Order: sequence, then C-alpha cells, then structure tokens
Amino acid sequence: MKNINLETMDRRFIEKILYFDEIDSTNDRAKDLGTNTNIKSALLITEYQTKGRGRMGRSWEMPKGKDLMFSLLLRPGIKPMDAPKLTIVFAQTVVNVVKKLYNIGLSTKWPNDVIYNGRKVCGILTEMNTDIEMVNYVVIGAGINCNNEVFSKELNDKAVALKSIVKAEIQREELLQSLIVEFERLYNKFLVNGLLDIISDIRDSSAIIGREVHVMRKGEKLKYKVSDISTDGELLVVNENKEIEPLISGELLVPGIYGYAG
Ligand code: BTN
Repeated sequence: MKNINLETMDRRFIEKILYFDEIDSTNDRAKDLGTNTNIKSALLITEYQTKGRGRMGRSWEMPKGKDLMFSLLLRPGIKPMDAPKLTIVFAQTVVNVVKKLYNIGLSTKWPNDVIYNGRKVCGILTEMNTDIEMVNYVVIGAGINCNNEVFSKELNDKAVALKSIVKAEIQREELLQSLIVEFERLYNKFLVNGLLDIISDIRDSSAIIGREVHVMRKGEKLKYKVSDISTDGELLVVNENKEIEPLISGELLVPGIYGYAG
C-alpha cells in the first residue's frame, strides 16, 4: 500500500503537519510539541506506532500502512472540565464524515468510540496539559480501522474496518482531509457555544441512549439505563433507584457492543 501523501492537503487551521513513517506514539510526540514549542496547532500522522496507546493504559496496535493513526495538538483556551467534550466533538466528526463520504451510518459509544453494529471503527484518546484555571494544550489522538480487515482473535468480534463496511478500499488521504475540514467546522462551533449547537446530532448518533449499560466500580457491577447526553458532555444515566446520575468519564460495558453479553 502506498504511503499517505499529504502534499496536496488543505491544512485549514493546522499550523504544522508532521508525517512519520514510524513513531512511538503520535499522542506522545504531540504532547512534546505542546510542552516544548509555541506551535498553536499541529497534525501528526504516522503509518505505524511502536508504542501506540489506548485508553485506560492499554496498548493500541495497528499494522503498518493500512489504517489512520494521527493526533491533533490544539490550544483551545478552555477550562480543564471542558476538554473531554472535544472527544465527543471528534467522535461526531467521524460520524458526519463517514456518512458524507460513504453514506454509512456509524454511531458513538460515549465518550470515545465510534462503532458499527456493535464493533469499533475508531478509538479516540484525548489527553491534556493544564493549569488549574486553563488548559495549556489538548491532544486528540485517533485510530481509525480503514483497510486492515484481519484482526487478532481477541479483537475479531470487537472491531471492524471501514473497508469491510463500505466494501471498497478506503482512500486514507480523502478520509483524513474530510476529517480535518469537518473537525474545523465543529471545533469552531464548540469554541463559540460548547456542545450546544451540535448536541442534537450528538444525541442522534449515540448508540447507547435508551440502553442498559454496566459500570464496574470496586468490583461491583452497577446497572444503569442511559437517558441522555448533556450539553456538558456528561452521560445521564438512571440508576436502579430511578435516580438520574451524571457520568463524567469511565468505561462502559454495553450488552450487545464488543461482544459483551451482560
Ligand atoms: C482507545 O480506544 O482506547 C483509544 C485509541 C487511540 C489510538 C490512537 S492511534 C493515534 C494516537 N496515538 C496513540 O498512541 N494513540 C492514539
């Protein structure tokens, strides 16, 4: 497979674009740039990561040259509590772009996954460096299953490639370009009004509103029903006593998603 060609890319709001044939982790390099330079925004993209990271300290592995692995460095000038909303904005970006390019309806598993029929298409890892009052920078890292259709036994019923859904090879440059353009559009809305202007799309895209979800806390399985996603980006869930609780972050187990039986 040919490498991603970024020469013709319309870079929009991105001050610096860095391409790596191989790197440890685009999120780690983006954080270096955030800490050691004044660059306002950057896109780091690679064909392969030797130390790709997922959420909850997990490793994230993708074969060379088939998928999309990249990180965006941003300095949005927001409060730390608002940073997780950017994960939701990026997930919505992926949903919108895949609908527009391929006419495929993906959905989101709050807060950071984009899925198709209960399988993961895209994982997002958002990290930040912050003062008490204001975020210094945010890094949004995304891994999108594009053309690799062969997964390990462990991931086989949990992941799916866009190629298998669209039934055609995914042009990674085209997808990346559309993601940048659409993210810029939603990010500008976010900077003005937070999630307010896109919350109805976010709700429509959610795979879990109305469903039962389980959260493991101190070895105990807590069962909730998801009622909504708030404009603060929280998941509003109803507990077994019929009280509404906001979840700010966390790992959800959802019967029917990623092969979880409940
Ligand atoms: C998850 O679902 O756990 C999030 C996965 C995020 C993976 C991407 S790949 C590009 C960027 N660099 C990393 O090390 N991780 C993110």
